[in-house]
Amino acid sequence: MTDTAGMGALPVEGVSAARVLDEIRALRAADRPTHGGRLFAYVYDPGVAGLDELAQAAYAESAHVNGLDPTAFPSLLAMENALVGAAARLLGGGPGTSAPDVVGSVTSGGTESLILAVKAARDARPDLAEPRIVVPVSGHAAFAKAAHYLRVALDSVPVDPVTLRPAVADVAAAIRPETVLVVASAPSYAHGVIDPVAEIAAVAAAAGVRCHVDACFGGWTLPWLRRLGAPVPPFDFAVPGVTSMSVDLHKYAYAPKGVSVLLHRDPGLRAPQFFAYGDWPGYTMVNPVIASTRSGGPIAAAYATLRHLGEDGYLRLAAVTRDAVAGLADAVRAVDGLRLLAEPESTVVCFTADDPELDLFVLVDELTARGWHTQPQLAYAGLPASVHLTVTAAVAPRVAEFGPALAEGAAAARAAGPVVLPPELLALAGSLTPEALTPDLIAGLAAGLGLGAGPAPGRMAAANTLLQAAPVRLRERLLVEFVGLLQRPTW
Ligand SMILES: Cc1ncc(COP(=O)(O)O)c(C=O)c1O
Repeated sequence: MTDTAGMGALPVEGVSAARVLDEIRALRAADRPTHGGRLFAYVYDPGVAGLDELAQAAYAESAHVNGLDPTAFPSLLAMENALVGAAARLLGGGPGTSAPDVVGSVTSGGTESLILAVKAARDARPDLAEPRIVVPVSGHAAFAKAAHYLRVALDSVPVDPVTLRPAVADVAAAIRPETVLVVASAPSYAHGVIDPVAEIAAVAAAAGVRCHVDACFGGWTLPWLRRLGAPVPPFDFAVPGVTSMSVDLHKYAYAPKGVSVLLHRDPGLRAPQFFAYGDWPGYTMVNPVIASTRSGGPIAAAYATLRHLGEDGYLRLAAVTRDAVAGLADAVRAVDGLRLLAEPESTVVCFTADDPELDLFVLVDELTARGWHTQPQLAYAGLPASVHLTVTAAVAPRVAEFGPALAEGAAAARAAGPVVLPPELLALAGSLTPEALTPDLIAGLAAGLGLGAGPAPGRMAAANTLLQAAPVRLRERLLVEFVGLLQRPTW
């Protein structure tokens, strides 16, 4: 447990730099390990010696530069344009391609890129009172967030329980006269599956609708994997009908957090993404992205990372990652009762359990107890609960240890048996409406599940089982309440 007593952010008298850093390091000790290849979500670690130091130095150079005004800080504009050019070239755009006029912007992350793709599509159709977007259920939740923020209706398309892809006919059928954007993922985050981009883009184009390919996760790996010989289907600007794409540099480009690129096939498609305002007495504002003041730190760090690693570096890291994925998939196949939910096509390994005696959520806890941090995914719409592994290059040296740990964790999970929640609690979770939740009930549930304030709880199987028993709206609301309990000021 971290002792935060006496660590208010604003002491009466300032404390020394050394002490502040010691305090931060003490806090960080409770975090999951960002480096070392044992955390299969949240972080992207290439395991390249010296890269962190380079990115930190570049970050520091530009941390106080403000992207608000590109004419005041041309350094930032130059680096941003270079990042956009690199991303566009990697994704089938730029001089000499079928998409020579690609333009783009650097955003703070995948979510911002997706919100802006939806905004651009929405604002290109001011004639529509009720614009809509078509998104396979495997599309990232950020599209739902964009729809919510921008008051755009979300038309979800189911995915096939075996291929985990949407049927193109279903996508076509979901397109209406009010549809402003159709989405495909390359790949999906949850399962690492690449949607049939060419077919989806074709039905969108036939309907005169924009098509966004969300390559936030895979845009910086699929091109290298293809160069290494993997059978990667067409997914980028080489595909006619793809009007915009997103790729996160803070994922597989291995840049520190806070950088994604949103690309449009031409400047006309991008224009409605921008916001300008002169109707106030201050500076006339023009923002290509959501944020106005933007630190140059993440952009400079990403620029340094790309230039230092270069194409040869990324190819090497992709090869290492591909081999790690194969090794982890073999480890899953070797455990009785576990099954890959999808054959790995990119850098995700996703598995489920076919044996009722082997509770996946207990397995996740057993792995955590052994120092392996995986990501549980709840059962949803006919898809079983699963475990997600985002695989990065730093995992490669760990693969040989993972197999025995997985086998051991599975044996321990079988020995412990599945989570058994009191039937009354399960019945309550299944029938409660979000409106019926009271503060007392929430506090009681949080306490019972070990979700109070303080360091992250060790065992989450009971909480996951309860959430899984709840209808989706209740899952959302419970999580909102639980996180609300965590986000309390310290005085
Ligand atoms: C496919 C995909 N799209 C969008 C996002 C959202 O990115 P961010 O978390 O950077 O906002 C993610 C994040 O994992 C993703 O995998």
